[in-house]
Amino acid sequence: MKILTVVGARPQFIKACMLSKAIKSNSKIEEVIVHTGQHYDDNMSAVFFKQLNLPKPDYYLGVGSGSHGKQTAKMLVELEKVMISVNPDIVLVYGDTNSTLAGSLAASKLHIPIAHVESGLRSFNKKMPEEINRLVTDHLSNWLFCPSKAATENLKREGIVKEVYLTGDIMYDSVLYYKPLALQQSTILHDLSLKKNNYYLSTVHRAENTDEPERLKSILEALQQLKMDVVLPLHPRTKSKVNQFKLMELISAPHIKIVDPLNYFDMLTVASQANVILTDSGGLQKEAYMLKVPCITLRDETEWIETLQTGWNHLVGADTQQIVDTVKAIQFPKEHPPLFGDGKTSQKINEILVEGFERL
Ligand code: UD1
Repeated sequence: MKILTVVGARPQFIKACMLSKAIKSNSKIEEVIVHTGQHYDDNMSAVFFKQLNLPKPDYYLGVGSGSHGKQTAKMLVELEKVMISVNPDIVLVYGDTNSTLAGSLAASKLHIPIAHVESGLRSFNKKMPEEINRLVTDHLSNWLFCPSKAATENLKREGIVKEVYLTGDIMYDSVLYYKPLALQQSTILHDLSLKKNNYYLSTVHRAENTDEPERLKSILEALQQLKMDVVLPLHPRTKSKVNQFKLMELISAPHIKIVDPLNYFDMLTVASQANVILTDSGGLQKEAYMLKVPCITLRDETEWIETLQTGWNHLVGADTQQIVDTVKAIQFPKEHPPLFGDGKTSQKINEILVEGFERL
């Protein structure tokens, strides 16, 4: 059986690495990896392949940045060529990026069955590009691997019930596997003179925050008012918007430690030892829960509603005062139920795909 895996953006490298390991251990499956080139800076891409031991992509499409239409269209053209030449039995896509959308569109037009990992998530906000990507991908997919019960229920509401599997979250596999290595190898706490539990970690990159000057300003003002150190790894989009809206001043206070995007080991280390995480990232909200660190979500809605229900995550939006007040009021919840499976998601998906292929 031949699987063609499409990846392109940072979180997809983290998701793909564990399933790639599982696929590799099965001599019945050959995996061909295509990297669209959506993320191309070394610290957004190459460093992850190296650290996570992901096989070098068989195809690199070098699509790069552009408007959503242009970026997705370029991927579509190139992915169609690769899929025709490789002739895979299954196309495997991850998450909700433009690379996911392009991979599933190209495959569906060529009648190649699609497997979607991290299926069924909804923010119910169609202004979010990721929401469109998820909706389309889920409706085109043949196997839908859901990280949470809420995700399976979302699919059911949309009439998708066949081949829907509650497998747990593949990012939890990565966290369990790599956290001990990360803590052993990363020197980031020492490099930034940080002490466990004595700093906040913040990431901001969602278009709804970075492209709206008022929201971005309001979030950065909150970081400015916090009383402990704040580690702020700057996504390239955020960096360019901070400059464009002339907001650099807001994050020039000495307690704000601006760093380039972090590699996975540094990120796991900084995240696991933080006092609170403030983020608009989907992945980091979950990782905060997995690492038992309270999270403040800088958005108006979240796909990870179970993290809110357990009290580990707080949906706060972009209002300065509300962010600052929520940080002050944070308490450690007593319960920490296993929301994201048992860390064996990649094995489960691998088995379902093999069994499903034999039925095709
Ligand atoms: C994408 C995904 C998002 C995912 C995120 C993780 C979509 C619609 N969004 O958003 O779901 O959570 O990745 O990071 O697919 N840039 C660089 N160097 C890079 C990559 C990007 O400079 O290596 C700049 C480009 O100028 C680009 C901007 O960052 O315009 C945004 O890049 P984009 O490809 O849209 O992805 P993300 O915003 O990261």
